[in-house]
Amino acid sequence: MRKIFIFCLLAFFSAHIATQAQTKARPKVGGPCEGCNLLFSGIPKAMNSVDTSAGWEEKGASKILIKGIVYQQDGKTPAPNVVVYYYHTDTKGHYTPNASVPKGAERHGYLRGWVKSDQNGNYAIFTIRPASYPGTDILAHIHVTIKEPKFKVPYYIDEFLFDDDPFMTPERRKGHQNRGGNGILKLVKNGNGLWVAKHDIVLGLNIPNYPR
Ligand SMILES: [Fe+2]
Repeated sequence: MRKIFIFCLLAFFSAHIATQAQTKARPKVGGPCEGCNLLFSGIPKAMNSVDTSAGWEEKGASKILIKGIVYQQDGKTPAPNVVVYYYHTDTKGHYTPNASVPKGAERHGYLRGWVKSDQNGNYAIFTIRPASYPGTDILAHIHVTIKEPKFKVPYYIDEFLFDDDPFMTPERRKGHQNRGGNGILKLVKNGNGLWVAKHDIVLGLNIPNYPR
């Protein structure tokens, strides 16, 4: 009996050490990301390639549509089933939580949602234009986190910014990592008065530790 106990104990510790070694051997895709795991907080069981944020019907808000294709690393092959999680401030520059936001995710506010790219890589987000943090010249932005089917952990890509942001400067225009592609959106008004920006996402582009 004692021998069996010792054997089990040794087997347990060997497995533990092996797991630790594996974890150390594989650096985290995307590098450190504080808050990326909030992508999972409240994530719907079923996701569509199109999402409309809770702000869509708000009076006085500027409605925008961000749409594009998620591509594989080669920048040509569409990537299906990729989760794109977004969250942003409201028209006053606040991340305001409401009853729909799960505990722990309050700092992302209620203007958050998910899309899953379709078989052709398409995604579309209908939302409202966020504002800069109150009293600051920080560029208005939409945070974007990606969860690929082949990875357990999500990683962030460039924030979506706005080309016509009054606080945009040449330095700020250049000062981005271009993770997944350049996040500066150019909004164009369509025939229905909706501001539309096309933005494709290239998986792995400028993402640290991304397997090549
Ligand atoms: Fe932010």
